[in-house]
Amino acid sequence: MSPVNVLMDVDTGVDDALAIMFAVAHPEVNLLGISCVAGNAALPQVVLNTLKILDAAGAGDIPVAAGAVRPLIAPARDASHVHGADGLGGIVLPETNRRPVGQGAVGMLRDRLVASSGPVTIIALAPQTNLALLLRTHPEVAAKVERILSMGGSASVGNATPTAEFNVWHDPEAAAIVLDSGIPTFMYGLDVFNHVAVAREQTEALQASSRRAQKVAGALLAHRIGMGPGREPVYTGLIGDAGAVCALVDPDALRVERLPVFVELAGASRGQTVVDRRQFPGEDRMHGLHSAVGLTDVALEVDAQRYVDFYLATIAQLD
Ligand code: BDR
Ligand code: CA
Repeated sequence: MSPVNVLMDVDTGVDDALAIMFAVAHPEVNLLGISCVAGNAALPQVVLNTLKILDAAGAGDIPVAAGAVRPLIAPARDASHVHGADGLGGIVLPETNRRPVGQGAVGMLRDRLVASSGPVTIIALAPQTNLALLLRTHPEVAAKVERILSMGGSASVGNATPTAEFNVWHDPEAAAIVLDSGIPTFMYGLDVFNHVAVAREQTEALQASSRRAQKVAGALLAHRIGMGPGREPVYTGLIGDAGAVCALVDPDALRVERLPVFVELAGASRGQTVVDRRQFPGEDRMHGLHSAVGLTDVALEVDAQRYVDFYLATIAQLD
């Protein structure tokens, strides 16, 4: 496979950090730029974390741009209970000499898309505020976007609410704009995200490594702490957002169905991605309701061990 041109949109974020390291390491990912958005942490922290993780991965000169400080309509929400106050679980990384580019995320994304000689895949690992603003400001660039592959949503259970996944719940209007854009979309949601976990012994081996990137990856994985039934911390080892980048390079580890998907924008289910998995049309379609709902490729099952092995083997290429 020849390298795929990629723009990433992130809210770094423990697992966004794991995803960036994988993208830098994999030879089939041609990373053209990274845009940052408020989500797992406030925007300035997300930008700083992204720059420091590029250092940890030994990345070349990849443009990083600051984007939206909050969702389109909803208020910003705190996610420090998952990612820590600094978004990286308190992992101490050296100061960085990297700086964000002088233009904002929308401008950087637009310019990179226009400048690209071939189509570009956008990997969206965060609330999709930047992407919605891009598509509303420069709709003509949609023609350059091959597809938007996002970590977001769920065809089953939620995490932020019983039915809504965090990235979509954080900015439902933005997610709806992206789904309605006409650009092909691929949803790497909680149905697969929740299954790709590194065993504790492998995480400990990474933590004990003398190599910088391995050590950082180990510390990040060790921070993938979830909550047990009594709210006690439990080790999860999830690679999280990094699985969406695995999906770009190794889609055959997934069972995917092309299904109608829309975002619920109101009520207790606000932020839910409603995935229509019915075998037969129901009354709504018979009566012409929701007829405009677009189709999305939805990852429903994953060979989790294959992605764990793939992830670890790929970041082993880093120093
Ligand atoms: C998503 O929300 C964030 O906590 C993670 O970085 C991931 O993108 C999971 O719901
Ligand atoms: Ca994220």
